[in-house]
Amino acid sequence: MNATTPATAIPAHIPPHLVLDYPLYLGATSYENPFDKIIPDMHDGPAAFYGLNAYPGYKPAWVFRRGEDLQAIYNDIESFSNKDFAPFAQLVGESWSTLPAETDPPMHGLYRLMINPLFAPRRMAQLEDRVRAYAKEYIEKFKASGRCEFMQDFAFRFPIAVFLELMGLPMSRVDDFLKWEHGMLHTPDMNAVADSVRTVKKYLLEVIEERRNEPRDDLVTYGINAKVDGRNLTDDELFGFCFNLFIGGMDTVSTNLALHFRHLADHPDHQNYLRANPDKIPAAIEELLRAYSAVTTFRTCVKPVVIGGVQLMPGDKVALCTTLVNRDPEVFPNPNEVKLDRNPRHLTFASGIHRCVGAPLARRELVIAQEEFLKAIPEFRVAPNAKILYHLGGVIQPDNLPLIWKV
Ligand code: HEM
Repeated sequence: MNATTPATAIPAHIPPHLVLDYPLYLGATSYENPFDKIIPDMHDGPAAFYGLNAYPGYKPAWVFRRGEDLQAIYNDIESFSNKDFAPFAQLVGESWSTLPAETDPPMHGLYRLMINPLFAPRRMAQLEDRVRAYAKEYIEKFKASGRCEFMQDFAFRFPIAVFLELMGLPMSRVDDFLKWEHGMLHTPDMNAVADSVRTVKKYLLEVIEERRNEPRDDLVTYGINAKVDGRNLTDDELFGFCFNLFIGGMDTVSTNLALHFRHLADHPDHQNYLRANPDKIPAAIEELLRAYSAVTTFRTCVKPVVIGGVQLMPGDKVALCTTLVNRDPEVFPNPNEVKLDRNPRHLTFASGIHRCVGAPLARRELVIAQEEFLKAIPEFRVAPNAKILYHLGGVIQPDNLPLIWKV
């Protein structure tokens, strides 16, 4: 067991031999690139196990490493609930739901009908120029210096700028958003998480109030005017909708940027190929999304069910680790090899009714960032002797990524 593991009563239906340490828990860190060994090695273990610390707050959860089993869970909306998908409302003693992520049918379907049009191709096309302009603006700042701290100078700030644009919020808030996002998603200290949730809630409620008085062409105003089942959203629903975009829409993109650019820095052949063939970037992004999938979300079992040969009982938590299933050797031959033309059917954006609604935007951000970076910056690599600290839990994300190139 890890030093951080509190004594946890293991329910009687859990076979003792399947109770195992889980390296990718919230709070775990490593200076080793986890995709080199820690993650590939997990495929030598059982297909399903009860991972100590796998649920935030050092609690246990089932972990499945095979794509087939994860698909079965995503699709089994009778046996698994999204309630308590993340512990944010509970932590501040409240009962709102992150929406639509924490809701179940039939309400979930109604919320998705309201949200889906926001990420339709026409909307994405309208955003394209602004997204590209933000990418260029950040790159321009460090281009001539021959180096950047990729996380601070690009990966964290670019998706926040896009998000602020969508929400109609001022760019002066980039640093605040970064601080709040990290306080909520990257600390195992649940008191600190609760403080950040309160701060974000206060800010978003102020914005909602402002938009009620002065409507604009942004997502908050869209939420205020939206109808679900013939009525407007309640205040809790409206906040839950904004909050879901906040936790879903920025950190996930930062993380993937970081992991993809680390790969390119370590593989100059891939980097140079894509620089010479920018039309291959969208396909390469799909393979990078597969190989460096970083998001884990959660379900609660609400009905006895057998998945992957193990018995789950009501109350059991399940960690849906997209990282593991996207390197499932039964689905992807040589899963640890990045083949830029693999064209994989990955689970990075999940599957089933909760499939990521922001995937079209995330894909555009990742493609545009790579296109603009490779156009502006010659062959780059990780700065010599850099020590890169990875957070392993929640989302797998490096703290820092110093890159250098010749000018
Ligand atoms: C590379 C970036 C991204 C990744 C890897 C990602 C991943 C995911 C995953 C795995 C889920 C499913 C959760 C589950 O079923 O348990 C999800 C849902 C969701 N994502 Fe994303 N996401 C990304 C970007 C975005 C963006 C840019 C937005 C919005 C601006 C967004 C908004 C959402 C929302 C609202 C949901 C909930 C959907 C529902 O419950 O019906 N995501 N995302």
